[in-house]
Amino acid sequence: MNRRVAGALGAWVALTVVAIALVATVNFVRLRNNFEADARTLHRVVSQRADQHDAHLTSLAAVLASPDHSLATFRAVAEAVLRFYPRITAIGAISFAPVPGWAFTTREVPSNRPSVDELAAIASNLPAGQTIVLAGANGTAAYHLVKRLPETTVQTNALVMTIGARRLMDPEADLPEGTRLALRDPSGHELVQQGAPPSPSGMMPVLAFEKELGSRSQPLLLRISRSPVMSELLPPIAIALVAALTGIGVILASFVLRERRAAREAQARASLHEHQARLAHAMRVNTVGEMASGIAHELTQPLTAILSSSQAGLRLASSLSPDPNEIVGVLDANVRLAKRAGDILSRLRAYVSNSGPVPERTSLNQLVRNVAELVQSDLERRSIALNLHLDPGAPSATIDRVSIEQVVHNLVRNAADAVESLPQERRIITVATFFDDGSTGIAVSDSGLGIPPADLPRLFEPFFTTKPDGMGLGLPLCERLVEAFGGHITAANDPEDGAVFTIHLPLIAESRKEAAE
Ligand SMILES: Nc1ncnc2c1ncn2[C@@H]1O[C@H](COP(=O)(O)OP(=O)(O)O)[C@@H](O)[C@H]1O
Ligand SMILES: [Mg+2]
Repeated sequence: MNRRVAGALGAWVALTVVAIALVATVNFVRLRNNFEADARTLHRVVSQRADQHDAHLTSLAAVLASPDHSLATFRAVAEAVLRFYPRITAIGAISFAPVPGWAFTTREVPSNRPSVDELAAIASNLPAGQTIVLAGANGTAAYHLVKRLPETTVQTNALVMTIGARRLMDPEADLPEGTRLALRDPSGHELVQQGAPPSPSGMMPVLAFEKELGSRSQPLLLRISRSPVMSELLPPIAIALVAALTGIGVILASFVLRERRAAREAQARASLHEHQARLAHAMRVNTVGEMASGIAHELTQPLTAILSSSQAGLRLASSLSPDPNEIVGVLDANVRLAKRAGDILSRLRAYVSNSGPVPERTSLNQLVRNVAELVQSDLERRSIALNLHLDPGAPSATIDRVSIEQVVHNLVRNAADAVESLPQERRIITVATFFDDGSTGIAVSDSGLGIPPADLPRLFEPFFTTKPDGMGLGLPLCERLVEAFGGHITAANDPEDGAVFTIHLPLIAESRKEAAE
């Protein structure tokens, strides 16, 4: 797997984990807030219900305390209470004397109710008006409220109300699944519980609420608890969404990074090119300096010829009977010579000009001839012979003429350096153009001592030189210039003698076709 892809995958996984943790936290906080709101509401409702029991007992006591202390009225009120409040399952009235007994009890007598003797014993110990909670028998999910009536009430001494704990804590609105409710009486006895106990797996935090009811007579403890399930904190759809979003984010980020890197690389390439162009120009200017004497010499020739032909013309013109045809011939020659001098100078100007490379279809033979003219005087001065082997197939390539001229020029100068110390008759440089079905290009060979095999792989390294005053920049520059047009340059030793440097250039599409025919 590619390193960049692995990095992106890692970033995606890490981001997804962080995002999922965030989603879970947000969901947990939301769940906890909802849970607390639900629990508080339920606590308020249950407390109000408990208060209603006190109110009922008070009104029942008031009925019994009324002057006619009619049991029939009492019965009617009790029946109404039982009908409207299904959680109140039984109501009874006890009289202590002569022996404890029921003065009134609803038709359905709860089986779990303590005996009338026990109830009377408990009630007789209470101050008048006081109410206490009496736990129901185990597993009955009910409790009894016992209220001692004031002495002024004749016939009856206490009231007993039985309340179904399950209905008491029944929530009005459905609570989320997994919510557990429990109600304890003041002695710590659990009256009722409902819902599964919270999952014991330690993974999930348990939400819990515990508070005594706000009723003075029934200080029951309401306990609400719930442990959220995984899918509530992290719904699969949210996980998928988060993974997709972070994935898109990572892809976008890596795209932007790649673009930026590409831009940086392009900039680096551009500045390298600029640098090369400047170096190439500097080297050209440098060579021109070296060539100045040769050029001066080259210019002398047409200038001397112009001078002598002009003198001849003057003589002709001042003769007694000037022949106009002869004078025209002299002027013709002058024009030709002046053009030649002009050509030499414009080639030179083109060579040192600092215009950027302009690739266009260029004749390699003409290019080599141009270079030969530039170097000729210098080579003559050093008694070096220059042979041109120009391919009659007129090879051409899409290149910037001045750049490749500079390459050939550099190679010829290296060749000249290589043959300079040989005896005069063996100082030979050959520049050949070639064009075959595979490639086209220019080869520069010399009759020197060749390149030591150990140096061969290092020739194109910048600053590699074996010359005392060498720079070691010629060949690396040549390589860059040739590669700029899709070509390459190779160095080898000729089996006979000397070195051969070959510039290989891409064929132009149509000449490739011609070559194939
Ligand atoms: N025609 C050649 N024959 C032998 N050695 C050569 C030839 N051309 C180049 N070299 C070797 O390659 C080295 C690097 O050449 P170049 O990059 O032009 O730098 P410089 O000419 O400044 O030394 C030269 O110093 C020389 O050792
Ligand atoms: Mg050189």
